Amino acid sequence: MRGLSNRVQTLKPSATVAVNAKAMELRRQGVDLIAMTAGEPDFDTPQFVKEAAIRALAAGKTKYAPPAGIPELREAISAKFKRENGLEIPPEATVVTVGGKQALFNLFQAILNPGDEVIVIGPYWVSYPEMVRFAEGVPVEVPTGPESGFIPDPADIERKVTPRTKAIVVNSPGNPTGAVYPKEVLTAIAELAQKYDFYVVSDEIYEHLIYEGEHFSPARVAPERTITVNGAAKAFAMTGWRIGYAGGPKEVIKGIIDVSSQSTTSPDTIAQWAMVEALNNVEEAQRFITMAREAYRARRGIIVEGLNALGLPTPRVSGAFYVLSDVSRIDPDENQAALKLLSEARVAVVPGTDFAAPRHVRFSYATSEENIRKALERIAAIL
Ligand SMILES: Cc1ncc(COP(=O)(O)O)c(C=O)c1O
Repeated sequence: MRGLSNRVQTLKPSATVAVNAKAMELRRQGVDLIAMTAGEPDFDTPQFVKEAAIRALAAGKTKYAPPAGIPELREAISAKFKRENGLEIPPEATVVTVGGKQALFNLFQAILNPGDEVIVIGPYWVSYPEMVRFAEGVPVEVPTGPESGFIPDPADIERKVTPRTKAIVVNSPGNPTGAVYPKEVLTAIAELAQKYDFYVVSDEIYEHLIYEGEHFSPARVAPERTITVNGAAKAFAMTGWRIGYAGGPKEVIKGIIDVSSQSTTSPDTIAQWAMVEALNNVEEAQRFITMAREAYRARRGIIVEGLNALGLPTPRVSGAFYVLSDVSRIDPDENQAALKLLSEARVAVVPGTDFAAPRHVRFSYATSEENIRKALERIAAIL
């Protein structure tokens, strides 16, 4: 009678978290390693945000919050959606979650019945298909490749729509590709959702990290069926604070809140007060975001140029802080290539296997220019 559920036994632990943990362990053992694995900014959380958390602590704001989040933060999120994304989402149609990850996890629990299909555009963030499967849904992949800069053709998406299609996940700028979808593509996807009656799950967590082009929210086109997910982690270098949020159709948001109320109760109250400041202090926030974006832009130039010069084809994508690089020249098997990069070059990367990116590895350039240059030298040496 004892033992684990089938659901948990088939759940794949996050490859990126695992490989990052391995890199950190090697570093603790004293190995001189350049870690390009992490999906987290190398900057510290801005001081104005930290001070808001200190003020909240001093004022004793240390008790449970409502499962939907504190009202002040829901108001700040609603104002942010309007100011930055042109979306009319009232505070009651928003929810604060334990990272963007919990918003997505709860969302799939809230909308999927067994066998419902969710279209995911590959290469994708490893958690989407796992979260869908955990909710007894079926992920349906639409692959993209470097020739299109990992941007999908809406006609390919339409071919994968069936009567069981419940949602599509879009992630622009994307992890692990760095691709920024043009407005026309996002509009076409939202129109498909309207035509065939399914949800758009728009994961906009990298929205501020765009180096060419502009961010566009598909909820502008299909507000009645789009759930927009975002968070503090990437915009404000707040990965450890665990604050995410979502806005969209009220019945879906209520579903997310209900799942929270029976699992985490509410996100950390102190961190929520810090997030109120991060969103409402627009001037300080913009200063920080611009500083970080310009740093990433310079790093992207170095890494894209450097990897291509080494014969590792790497598209010059426009967003996030990742590139997917074709490492066939090191080894046709991306896992072997990642292992060689780790053991011989002492550069840690994530193999593309779990992202549905064979022959590729993901480099995160959320690290200093000096580290990026050093990594390129080490890779050149093993080649
Ligand atoms: C595409 C994407 N979505 C969502 C998240 C979740 O971020 P968090 O839960 O830290 O807000 C991440 C984090 O790596 C991500 O890469």
